[in-house]
Amino acid sequence: MKIGIGCDHAGLELKLELISLLKEMGMDCIDYGTDAPKSVDYPDFGEKVSSAVSSGGIARGILICGTGIGMSIVANKFPRIRASLCNDLFTAKMSRLHNDANILVIGGRIVGKDLAKEIVRVWFTTSFEAGRHLNRLNKILHIEEKIKGSGHGTGTSQTR
Ligand code: RB5
Repeated sequence: MKIGIGCDHAGLELKLELISLLKEMGMDCIDYGTDAPKSVDYPDFGEKVSSAVSSGGIARGILICGTGIGMSIVANKFPRIRASLCNDLFTAKMSRLHNDANILVIGGRIVGKDLAKEIVRVWFTTSFEAGRHLNRLNKILHIEEKIKGSGHGTGTSQTR
């Protein structure tokens, strides 16, 4: 499976651990950065991975920042992205079974490396259950279409 991984400075150490694991798992893994401990802005790296998954260039992604919150916010802006912040095993499993999550987000300052590796293993080996959940995902797609056609996002931005 072709996947992408990205992080900010707070996720770099964990990302390097996970890349080794992903290679062991036989994944074709593209690293979208960051690749130095210098402080960077998580949206820049969240965008690269999310955009690649959204456009179909890669099948799935992993994003890591300090808490996972910022990366989740960024990723879920993209069409067809179902990013799930999974800092525990149960959420990781459910995000695949029920939500068919295509981006896994982890908080590098929240989760230790051993648990993070287990989260990744579970996330990649759990299949979507479909059934009633498929209907719900189709409703999310429908919401995306409605938002696209409604002019949302063309108003004044809330910059501070
Ligand atoms: C960076 O200090 C931190 O804000 C970022 O990694 C992330 O936790 C944001 O949600």
